[in-house]
Amino acid sequence: MDLNLQNKVIVVTGGTDGLGRALVTRLAQYGAHVATGGRNASRRESLAQELPDALIYDVDLLHPAQRAAFADAVIAKWGHIDALVNNAGKSAATPVAQSTDEEWREDYELKVIAATDLVRRFLPVLCDGGSILNIVATKGKAPSADSTPTSASRAAGLAFTKALAGELAPRQIRVNALVIGLIESGQWERRAAASNMTTREFMEVAATAMKVPLGRFGRLDEFADVASFLLSERASYITGAALNLDGGLSPVL
Ligand SMILES: NC(=O)c1ccc[n+]([C@@H]2O[C@H](COP(=O)([O-])OP(=O)(O)OC[C@H]3O[C@@H](n4cnc5c(N)ncnc54)[C@H](OP(=O)(O)O)[C@@H]3O)[C@@H](O)[C@H]2O)c1
Repeated sequence: MDLNLQNKVIVVTGGTDGLGRALVTRLAQYGAHVATGGRNASRRESLAQELPDALIYDVDLLHPAQRAAFADAVIAKWGHIDALVNNAGKSAATPVAQSTDEEWREDYELKVIAATDLVRRFLPVLCDGGSILNIVATKGKAPSADSTPTSASRAAGLAFTKALAGELAPRQIRVNALVIGLIESGQWERRAAASNMTTREFMEVAATAMKVPLGRFGRLDEFADVASFLLSERASYITGAALNLDGGLSPVL
């Protein structure tokens, strides 16, 4: 299937590691112009070596001024974009009784405010017929004990996706969410290392403990396949959708 992504300008937040990195690498292989960023310099440099033509920006999305500078740099380079992927995020799961306002604010700032802010900044230059993809988590559909603030911020991301899809439909801009269960990525490599396990061992134990119906973590190439499709014109009649990419983990459709 030809996704026809060549020469498309696609912004992916959190593209220096994990899912985001797999996606920007795949999009570049399709011939897209990609822009991404992150806080960690060695991750940015490693990606720059792999993708010398990409715009890889030093940005902490928790800070509005840095978000503005990132968006300005993208617009200065290309003048328009064809798609935005709000992917940057991290796990945040604390029992409510032990959680703090600061933790809740930071989680909302990264997963909700940064995403809405970037949409607002890019909207004037997002081409009609383009698309927005929000990466969220199964906890947003199926919250469970001890899973806040993530469950709440991801539910907000799902509601934002649906509301925005309606707002932007007159411009034929599609807005969707990809609902992630457990997929191999940098965050799992770091957790495995902290547990003195190999990433493979860690993922096998976690997939069993979480009772993933397909019995394993998802692969990065499986994520890149689905995300690329949703960004492409091959998904031209899909908007306002929240697609589970979770090996059957979510109890909710
Ligand atoms: N992998 C999973 O199983 C899973 C499950 C559910 C949801 N998700 C969601 O999927 C998305 C990608 O997750 P992942 O597993 O690929 O995570 P990851 O391997 O930890 O990568 C996260 C990326 O986001 C960037 N990032 C984090 N905080 C940032 C900030 N404040 N400003 C700018 N960039 C920031 C990181 O770069 P720097 O650290 O250098 O800034 C990195 O590039 C996240 O939203 C995550 O919550 C993943």
